[in-house]
Formats: sequence, C-alpha cells, structure tokens
Amino acid sequence: MKFSVASAFAAAMMAADAVTAAPLEPRAPNVAYFSGFNLGANKANGDCKSTQDWIDEFNTIRSWNPEFTTVKLFSTSDCSALANAAPAATQTGFKIWVGLWPGPEAAGQGKFGQEKGALEAAIEADGTGWLAGINVGSESLYRNETSPDTLAVQIWDVKGMVQSHFNAPDVVVGTADTWTSWVNASNAIVIQASDVIIMNAFPYWQGAQIDAARGVFQEAVANTKAAVGEKQLVIGETGWPTGGPDFGDAHPSVENLQKFYKSTGCDLRGSKIPHFWFSGFDEPNKTSDIEKNFGIATSDRNIKIDITC
Ligand SMILES: *[C@@H]1O[C@H](CO)[C@@H](O)[C@H](O)[C@H]1NC(C)=O
Ligand SMILES: *[C@@H]1O[C@H](CO)[C@@H](O)[C@H](O)[C@H]1NC(C)=O
Ligand SMILES: *[C@@H]1O[C@H](CO)[C@@H](O)[C@H](O)[C@H]1NC(C)=O
Repeated sequence: MKFSVASAFAAAMMAADAVTAAPLEPRAPNVAYFSGFNLGANKANGDCKSTQDWIDEFNTIRSWNPEFTTVKLFSTSDCSALANAAPAATQTGFKIWVGLWPGPEAAGQGKFGQEKGALEAAIEADGTGWLAGINVGSESLYRNETSPDTLAVQIWDVKGMVQSHFNAPDVVVGTADTWTSWVNASNAIVIQASDVIIMNAFPYWQGAQIDAARGVFQEAVANTKAAVGEKQLVIGETGWPTGGPDFGDAHPSVENLQKFYKSTGCDLRGSKIPHFWFSGFDEPNKTSDIEKNFGIATSDRNIKIDITC
C-alpha cells in the first residue's frame, strides 16, 4: 500500500494545534446492541434545539419503547449541538452517537477543527459516559467530498483524542457511508482506520418498490459484510419517507413507512444489529420535500406508525 495511516497521522500530528494523541490500533470491538434514531439539530422553525428541547425529544423517544435510549447527531458544533445535547443525555440517561463533519477545510473554514474542538469541549464538560460512538464524516466518500487518505487520518486523529487522551478506549470511531462506498475497493484505507463499519442504506433512494425494499436492504448488508471482513457493522441510517415525490418505483407514504418498519426495522431489532433509524422526527426546516418527511414521528412529536415488532 502506498499510503500508511500511521505515517500520515504522525505528519498531521506535528502540524496540529488542538489535542492530538497517538491512537489505539483499530479494533474489531463488540458494540452492544441498540435501536436508535438520527436527529437533526434544528427545530421546525429553524431555531437551534436547546438543552430542554433535547430532553423533551429524548423523553418522547423513550416513551415509544424503553429500549430506545440512543440517538445519533450529524454535527458537534452546528447549533452548538453537543454543548446543548450532551447535558440532556447525561440528565436523561441517553447515549449520543456523535457525527463530525470532516470538511470543508478551505481557507478560513476549518470545519473539522471546529467539530473536533466542540467534541473536546463536550468531553471536558460532561465526560464520556454519554458517548455511544463516533463517525467522522457522513456520506462524505459517497459525495466525493474528501479523499479516503484524508478521512482515514481524521478518523485516527479523533481516535487518538477520545480513546488515548481522554482514556475512553471503548468509544468506537469510524465513518458513516453508503454501502456503495464500503464495497468500493478505493476506500480500503478507511476500512483499515475504522473500529466499526457504519453503513447507510436506503431502498427508497435505490428506487425500490416497497415490497422489494426488504430484499434490497438485505443485499446492501450482505455486500458490505463481504467487503469489510470481520469488522462489526452498525447501521447508521435507514428509513422511508412519508411525503415528497416518488423516486423510481419507490413511493413515499405512511403506509410504506409502516411496511418498511415492520420488515426491515423489525429485522434489525430481532437480529440485534445496532442501528439508527432515519429519522426520529420530521424536519420542516430542510429544503427538500423528501428530506422534510423522513421522521418516524412528526415534528410535533406524534408517532406516525405502529413500531411494535
Ligand atoms: C430554516 O430556518 C432558518 C432560521 O429560521 C431560516 O433562515 C431558513 O430559511 C429555514 N429554511 C427553510 C428551508 O425553511
Ligand atoms: C462520485 O464520483 C464518481 C466517479 O467519478 C461518480 O460516478 C459519482 O456519480 C460521484 N458521486 C456523486 C454523488 O456525485
Ligand atoms: C470509489 O472511491 C473513490 C475514492 O473515494 C472515488 O474517487 C470513486 O469515485 C469511487 N467510485 C465510484 C464509482 O463512486
């Protein structure tokens, strides 16, 4: 291999100004089962969620099923997400799977530095007991927004800070990406750098007819497992929208969300694969009609379907 994560990380460490520490070798740990939900950081009117808003959402989610005590966020710093949500998690006994944006790194923006700094500040304020795991990047490879080499070094950078510097070796770090990115051999260095493989798969975005969606999802899981070796799989996102346009043969509706949950959602709960549904609540503040309507509940927290299995 022309590129080594270890040597690139060593070079990056010398240039860095924030907390850096040598990471633990990537492991194949056993992440305990959870059934969680992805959550955005904005309220329906666009305002940022406060600590009380996060507490109210966490309590709503637990009221659906006491098994639900884990959520996943997309950014540490946007909307002061961790500064507000980490205390809410500590108070309610929830765990947060934390997303960090790896870029853009263009002059003056330094997004990754801001994201890492917000994670560092949250750990200094609230410890690591609320941390379920970490993904550096969310579909960043899929969108061609970064290179595998850069992303692998950032994963190691965060591993070093959380696992070594803050002495939390059980908090796993990886990146969340589509199954198509995991089966792409050009991304092998990212698999090497990751503790776990966080896979997103949406039969809706593959244009699947609802009755084919379960099989399409199972195929994504099987293809990813075949590509990543023995590393543990965590499902980062799957779900079905209830409004917006059709995509190929995929039709958004409450009835189809119900079908997809009773098939794939219940498969995941039954087989005890750690997973995050996309998403917890509708997000009227998003721009696309589809993205607004992916919640299992409305933005005013009314659940749309029966989620018993
Ligand atoms: C989301 O909310 C912000 C702040 O209120 C507003 O500026 C923005 O236009 C909203 N976006 C959409 C798509 O409604
Ligand atoms: C990323 O690049 C590949 C190869 O050039 C291309 O096929 C793919 O459509 C791009 N992905 C996106 C989301 O633009
Ligand atoms: C495969 O991954 C590489 C590196 O991330 C990327 O440049 C390329 O566009 C990907 N191929 C496809 C077909 O998306």
